[in-house]
Amino acid sequence: MELLSQIDKNNIPKHVAIIMDGNGRWAKQQGENRVFGHHEGVNSVREIVEACGEIGVKYLTLYAFSTENWNRPKEEVDALMELLVATISMETPNLNQKGVRLQAIGDIKSLPLSCQKELQESIDITSANSRVTLILALSYSSKWEITNAVKKIAEEVKSGKLNPDDISSKMIENNLSTINYPDPELMIRTSGEHRISNFLLWQLAYAEFYFTEVLWPDFRKQEFYKAILAYQNRERRFGLTSEQLTTN
Ligand code: FPP
Repeated sequence: MELLSQIDKNNIPKHVAIIMDGNGRWAKQQGENRVFGHHEGVNSVREIVEACGEIGVKYLTLYAFSTENWNRPKEEVDALMELLVATISMETPNLNQKGVRLQAIGDIKSLPLSCQKELQESIDITSANSRVTLILALSYSSKWEITNAVKKIAEEVKSGKLNPDDISSKMIENNLSTINYPDPELMIRTSGEHRISNFLLWQLAYAEFYFTEVLWPDFRKQEFYKAILAYQNRERRFGLTSEQLTTN
């Protein structure tokens, strides 16, 4: 049976987060350079955003560039930044037409100015859309984000506005860059790596993890549906027992 028709439309994760991995290996398999793989990866991004709109995933966070990625060879970093600018600029009309709102998390000020400008323009142009929110994690790392949150809270304590006893998990959440989004229920990582790589460490506390051997440029709609189906076959217990779940 077709994968799409097996998906339970009443049990769609509201927020899916993806570590898009394997562009370099995919390119090598084709006898091409790494940047070729990133270019092909954009086609997967387009398909997955479209699939989210079609099945009703409301938030999609993509790990597009990590803090650690700055340490890659300069030519690759430059090519990735250029690709980001070109993709955002080219895809904005398409995003708008499909009702996609673009957002970004991460140390955006560390990106080249051209990239910041293109990003902000697209964020503004798509701000009224509500079908899918596409969140690009750019120059992002979870440890960076949590450290910033701790600094902000420490300042409040220092100025006497906050008593340390009143620090709550909600307060920490409110100081993360994801304050406006629900936590992801599903995290996907492609390319056979089984790591979380400094991605949404706090927000993924109760997420289901789906790992696939498929390399990101080959991760298209059918692969995404497989991940959704795997999610739907999991029992999410949030620390409770199975019996508690069925009796409640
Ligand atoms: C990981 O593959 C991929 C990246 C670090 C970059 C992801 C970027 C894109 C898919 C293109 C731009 C995206 C948007 C949203 C416009 P890798 O290079 O680590 O692959 P490898 O592990 O095989 O070396």
